[in-house]
Amino acid sequence: MSEDKKIIGDLGKVIGVLVLIAVVISVIAMSLVSDDDAARAAWEEKQVLNRIKPLGELATTTEEAQKASPVLAEPEPIVAEPMTAKQVYNTACMACHTTGAAGAPKIGDIAEWEFRIAQGNDVLFEHATKGFKGMPPRGGSSQLTDEDVQAAISFMVNNSQ
Ligand code: HEC
Repeated sequence: MSEDKKIIGDLGKVIGVLVLIAVVISVIAMSLVSDDDAARAAWEEKQVLNRIKPLGELATTTEEAQKASPVLAEPEPIVAEPMTAKQVYNTACMACHTTGAAGAPKIGDIAEWEFRIAQGNDVLFEHATKGFKGMPPRGGSSQLTDEDVQAAISFMVNNSQ
């Protein structure tokens, strides 16, 4: 009987030692898989996803495009300044009216302009916009507005009397 007790006692000690070893191992294992490792794993996953992400996404609406590129949000308004009379003259009329090319009355030539001015502005305007003999409609610059043409006529008339 005392023999059995001894065996049970020894067995108890062995089991105790084994339990202790198991506890030590699990503590070590837990310390290895620490929070740091979990954070590192998450970081690595993020890096991988970052490397394999698509280069771009097609924006199919204005909102998407503006979200992707905030620069597009507010396009610079393009304000077209109206040309001054002198600018109209320099770009569209000067070629003939400064040189007298094709028989054009030169700007500043009072004698050449006197009888033309005498016709009245309405006639000058009509001849300048619709064309008159060697004078092409709007001087050949069809993009000019009536205001542009009138401004250039006044500019020439004012400098030729
Ligand atoms: C390609 C040459 C040419 C260009 C460019 C030109 N003109 Fe002339 N213009 C003429 C000629 C030539 C005449 C003279 C026509 C005539 O009486 O025989 C003339 C005449 C005129 C006359 C007088 C018309 C009249 O009744 O006597 C006016 C006003 C005039 N041009 C305005 C302009 C204006 C404004 C521009 C610019 C927007 C312009 N021209 C550009 C050739 C040109």
